[in-house]
Amino acid sequence: MKIVKAKDYNDLSRKAANIISAQIIMKPHCVLGLATGSTPIGTYKQLVEWYNKGDLDFSEVTTVNLDEYKGLNRDNDQSYYYFMNENLFSKVNIDRNRTFLPDGTEPDSQKACDAYNQIIHSVGGVDMQLLGLGHNGHIGFNEPGIAFEKETHCVKLTERTIKANMRFFVSENDVPKEAYTMGIKTIMSAHRILVVVSGADKAEAVKNAFFGPVTPAVPGSILQLHNDVTVVADEAALSLCEGLY
Ligand code: GLP
Repeated sequence: MKIVKAKDYNDLSRKAANIISAQIIMKPHCVLGLATGSTPIGTYKQLVEWYNKGDLDFSEVTTVNLDEYKGLNRDNDQSYYYFMNENLFSKVNIDRNRTFLPDGTEPDSQKACDAYNQIIHSVGGVDMQLLGLGHNGHIGFNEPGIAFEKETHCVKLTERTIKANMRFFVSENDVPKEAYTMGIKTIMSAHRILVVVSGADKAEAVKNAFFGPVTPAVPGSILQLHNDVTVVADEAALSLCEGLY
């Protein structure tokens, strides 16, 4: 596991975007696993900027997103589809037919998850997976206690995640209680993994996930067992890890 220390959020976003753009340049027809949440927004912004300058071409790129809320359709401004559209897809020359997210409108969880697993297999797996890290160490929507061997599945969100996501909704009641997410097995199958983490409120999660024991109690800790993980974190997020890397 490589830890890259960034000065602040801007620096983190540029460094992460640099790593993703190198991936696209080295393999224009790559499959990118993408993430939502507030942390990757700056990374997407930077990628869009470089695209606008003519430095990046997304025309052959395929994307598969980590997760989607169950029950939200694509037009809902809190759906992850909407997020991806706003932050990246509508701003670059990506072929929409090659952008995939779990289908939040499919009420049959088994059907939605099987279909998504099939999509991931049919595109040949993920070359580079971008990840954020939740306060409790979750990745995607794989909450503490999750079985490591799962592929895409439906999860019940924890109270803490619902509360953390509440800021995006009118009230707590509006926050979906379930989501479809790639499982740990799916995430670990990516050839390369890039994790972005920012802020002092994530310092504990960073320490537990990347320097603590590997345990389902901290889902992100499994990444210690992957052979190509880069964590780009700012000083605040790494503040409890002095001397550990
Ligand atoms: C959500 C997402 C995760 C994300 C996490 C952290 O629960 N499903 O994929 O990594 O939040 O989000 P943020 O970057 O906003 O802290």
